Amino acid sequence: MPRQLFVTTALPYANGNFHIGHIMEYIQADIWVRFQRMQGHAVNFCGADDTHGAPIMIAAEKAGKTPQQFVADIAAGRKQYLDGFHISFDNWHSTDGPENHALAQQIYRDLRDNAGGSLIETRTIEQFFDPEKNMFLPDRFIKGECPKCHAKDQYGDNCEVCGAVYAPTDLINPFSALSGAKPVLKNSEHFFFKLSDPRCVEFLSRWTQDGKLQPEVANKVKEWFSVRTNPDGTQSEGLGDWDISRDAPYFGIEIPDAPGKYFYVWLDAPIGYLASLKNLLEKRGEDYDAYMANPALEQYHFIGKDIVTFHTLFWPATLHFSGRKVPDNVFVHGFLTVNNGEKMSKSRGTGLDPLKYLSLGMNAEWLRYYLAAKLSARNEDIDFNADDFMLRVNSDLIGKYVNIASRAAGFLTKRFEGKLTRDFGAQGSALLAEIRAAGPALAQMYETREFGKATREIMALADKVNAYVDQNKPWDLAKDTANNEALHQVCSVLINTFAVLTRYLAPVLPALAGAVETFVGTSMQQWDVAGDVAAIQPYQHLMQRVTPEQLDALFEPKEPTAPVEPAQAAPKKGAKPAAAATPADPNAPGGEALASTIGIDDFAKIDLRIARIVNCEAVEGSTKLLRLTLDVGEKDEAGQPRMRNVFSGIASMYQPAQLVGQLTVLVANLAPRKMKFGLSEGMVLAASHADEAAQPGIYILNPWPGAQPGMRIH
Ligand code: MSP
Ligand code: ZN
Repeated sequence: MPRQLFVTTALPYANGNFHIGHIMEYIQADIWVRFQRMQGHAVNFCGADDTHGAPIMIAAEKAGKTPQQFVADIAAGRKQYLDGFHISFDNWHSTDGPENHALAQQIYRDLRDNAGGSLIETRTIEQFFDPEKNMFLPDRFIKGECPKCHAKDQYGDNCEVCGAVYAPTDLINPFSALSGAKPVLKNSEHFFFKLSDPRCVEFLSRWTQDGKLQPEVANKVKEWFSVRTNPDGTQSEGLGDWDISRDAPYFGIEIPDAPGKYFYVWLDAPIGYLASLKNLLEKRGEDYDAYMANPALEQYHFIGKDIVTFHTLFWPATLHFSGRKVPDNVFVHGFLTVNNGEKMSKSRGTGLDPLKYLSLGMNAEWLRYYLAAKLSARNEDIDFNADDFMLRVNSDLIGKYVNIASRAAGFLTKRFEGKLTRDFGAQGSALLAEIRAAGPALAQMYETREFGKATREIMALADKVNAYVDQNKPWDLAKDTANNEALHQVCSVLINTFAVLTRYLAPVLPALAGAVETFVGTSMQQWDVAGDVAAIQPYQHLMQRVTPEQLDALFEPKEPTAPVEPAQAAPKKGAKPAAAATPADPNAPGGEALASTIGIDDFAKIDLRIARIVNCEAVEGSTKLLRLTLDVGEKDEAGQPRMRNVFSGIASMYQPAQLVGQLTVLVANLAPRKMKFGLSEGMVLAASHADEAAQPGIYILNPWPGAQPGMRIH
């Protein structure tokens, strides 16, 4: 009986492009899904953009777009990644689609009207409010001095310097990271999902501890049933209730019968899994309710380790107590790091840019194979290491496996018109039987997501085939036509073993398997194919090797999209920018000789100050400039904070959202300068190489934690 499977990956925030961590998750899920399809099972593999929440709303505002336009622009960029890495989603949708609005509201009503007693409760809570922006501030957008170690400029939920956890109301001198304004405390009615209700506790302890979760995940989850950390850092017993509402303005889904209240993004985001499925089924003319009502339906979510709480507590409880099917399992993976643990930022990623990888002509299946070789069923981090990558692809994938075909194909085409014999001889038959016999164990490895084990096992089989080649030496046999029969036999064995190994690798290497299908003329889309290969088409290169040059290029720093204009320079017509005046000197540090010596008095004339970037936006009509709003600790006559407006030629390197809230260094006593786009009141310091073409990039300075706006740099 074919299984009915509904499979998802986590829905990525629609505030940026995919990074390599996302791609890893999709590759892991895609391998599993393709394996299931090869087994003849029916899979609906769904993804979507997670579009809601304050950060996206704010990013859209900064970009001068409506949130709808902002997330549509992000969505438009998804396909090239998904197609590029051969991710076989059946559907990609959005949490802002009509299906999700309707489903989220209905699920909420079902929780509220639960026959055993409502699981929704309202409570009045006190929260920081930005009087300038007229909105309640999410913790991430409140900053201030750490109540414990007094480090300045710390986020509202925890201190990055001493690690203390606290409530935003504990911050000393809090300010809004959006406007710089001092937030005020204001009461607001919030909606809570009563996770502490004994029904929830009972259900969840069963759902999380019945043995389906990965052991390390189940153990972690178990702790949350005994103690939890409150926002103020204190600890309480048992599961806490979950705050599921946010006040307008918010980009999200309105709570029924509660004007001005929206679902917190994490309430509607996982419902987006169902919304994507519903959208898919309706496009196909199938019935969503009937599909979900099938008791045999299995539902699985692939996620990363950082979002386990949402998927093992909130999500199953939301589904169960709204009378819906609960997930059959949640598969948790660790984080991908690049070249030795360099952590990727959740939003930006670093190191390995997936699109750059593709644009360099690097084969997507090298990466799929490499990640498969590293993945297991455990929730553990894995590292992309460039040397290891090259080794595994070139020596294992190509050296051991692809070469089997290239070694045999030429002889078959030239000497036997591409036809194969079915007489494999005793040794060949035994080898083929052994390789076929490995199928069920390999299937079990794929089923349990032990992809690393599976690839090792497949390479061990390839080793046996290569040992057979070395013993039978087709190149020697080919020297004497008296050996024709033996040569035919050996090459036929090789092609048949190659076909079986290709099927074993097909979930990982779908495009290669497609090419092999044409080459050998038998299906590579089913796990078990009984027949032997009868004939081959002339061999064409199936896969190139990775070169060190490609890896060097991959990890070269990003090239700016446009030549960088020195900060606030806006040269007069005809005048050359400063950098072009002296040609770059490759032997000098940073490409330019040191300037002539000055005395301390000369230096003292330059007033350098720490500045906080309270706002940053693109400049319409300029691809180079960003407009920065800087707090240098100054006040106007009325004692109100005075901000500076500064233009900086760094748009090729930084997204405005990256810079907001950061500290940097300002030349504070530079004469203001009128530019095409407005007055620039100072200059932000940034580093760059004199030879912009050879070493592109401009990097703004960022002081160590503790520095605060207005401090002078001596
Ligand atoms: N929007 C939420 C998920 C909502 S699910 C209903 C979110 N988005 S995310 O874009 O930050 O992350 C999406 C997925 O990518 C998560 O599963 C996350 O764990 C995963 N990864 C993010 N960085 C990663 C790595 N460096 N390595 C592997 N996976 C990583 O969280
Ligand atoms: Zn601190």
